[in-house]
Amino acid sequence: MAEASPPLCLVVLVVCLLGFSGAVDMNGELEITWGGDRAKFLDGGNELTLSLDKGSGSGFWSRNQYVFAKIDMQIKLVPGNSAGTVTAYYLRSKESKWDEIDFEFLGNLSCEPYIVHTNIFVQGKGDREQQFYLWFDPTADFHTYSFLWNPKNIILYVDGTPIREFKNMESKGIPFPKRQALRLQSSLWNGDSWATRGGRVKIDWSQAPFTAAYTNFNADQACIWSSSTSSSCGASSKDDSWLSQQLDSAAYQKLEWVQKNYMIYNYCTDYKRFPQGLAPECVTQRVEFENK
Ligand SMILES: *[C@@H]1O[C@H](CO)[C@@H](O)[C@H](O)[C@H]1NC(C)=O
Repeated sequence: MAEASPPLCLVVLVVCLLGFSGAVDMNGELEITWGGDRAKFLDGGNELTLSLDKGSGSGFWSRNQYVFAKIDMQIKLVPGNSAGTVTAYYLRSKESKWDEIDFEFLGNLSCEPYIVHTNIFVQGKGDREQQFYLWFDPTADFHTYSFLWNPKNIILYVDGTPIREFKNMESKGIPFPKRQALRLQSSLWNGDSWATRGGRVKIDWSQAPFTAAYTNFNADQACIWSSSTSSSCGASSKDDSWLSQQLDSAAYQKLEWVQKNYMIYNYCTDYKRFPQGLAPECVTQRVEFENK
C-alpha cells in the first residue's frame, strides 16, 4: 500500500506540523493528510468525506498513534459504478519493518459486490490476505467497521460480527504486533491496475468524483503516542474490558457463518501460492478452530 501512504514524519515533530496544513476534526482526532479539498469535514466535523477524481485521491489519519486499541468507524462506501476504486482503512506503524492491520474495500460495477480485502503485517511481513463479500449493500448506508487489537488477539468486525481473528501465538514462535505504535489511516485511490476482477475492470472517469463518507469515529486505547513527546499509558476510557476481549462461543459461531458463506479467499488454504508450506499460524489456528 505504498501508494496510499502519506509522507512519513520520522524525525522531528515540527516537520510533521509544518508538513500538514490539513483540517482536523471528528472530535479533534482525525486530520486530513492529502488530496486538497477532495477531503472534507461536513456537519460541523461530525462527518468526513474522501473523494477521488482524475487528478488524485485523498486521505486522512488519526492524530494519535495507538499501542492496542479498539477502533470503530462508520463508513458508507462509494456508490454506483465504483469499479477500480479502493477505499483503504487500516492501522499502520511508521517503522521500516512495519506492523499493519488492513481493511481495503475494492469497488465494483453497479450492483456487483464489493470485496473486503484484509491483511496483517508483522514487522514488514504480510502475505496474510483474507477476502470477503458482505451480506449487505455497503453503499446504501453507513456500516461499522472495527479493529479490536489487544495483547490476546486481533479481531476485525463488520457491524459487530467478527469476520477475522488473528490470535497472539507468540508462545508458538509466531510474531504478533505489539512493539510498534499504529496510526489509523484511510484513503480513497485509484487501484484499477489490480482491484476489480484482478484489474480487468478500469475506472469509469465519467462517474467521477467518487466519494466515500465516514462518521462516528471512536477509539478506545491503552497507550497513546500523541503529538506531545511523551506517551501516556493506562486505561483511557471508563470501560477497558476490550483490552482482554476474545471471541466467545456465540461469536465463534458468527465468525464461522461469515467464513463459510462470505469468505472468498484465504491465504491459509492457498497451497498453490505457498508450495513451500502455509504460514505456521494457519496450522495452529485451524487446529484450535476445529477443537471449538
Ligand atoms: C465484482 O463482481 C464480480 C462479478 O460478480 C465478482 O466476480 C468480483 O469478485 C466482484 N468484486 C471485485 C472487487 O472484483
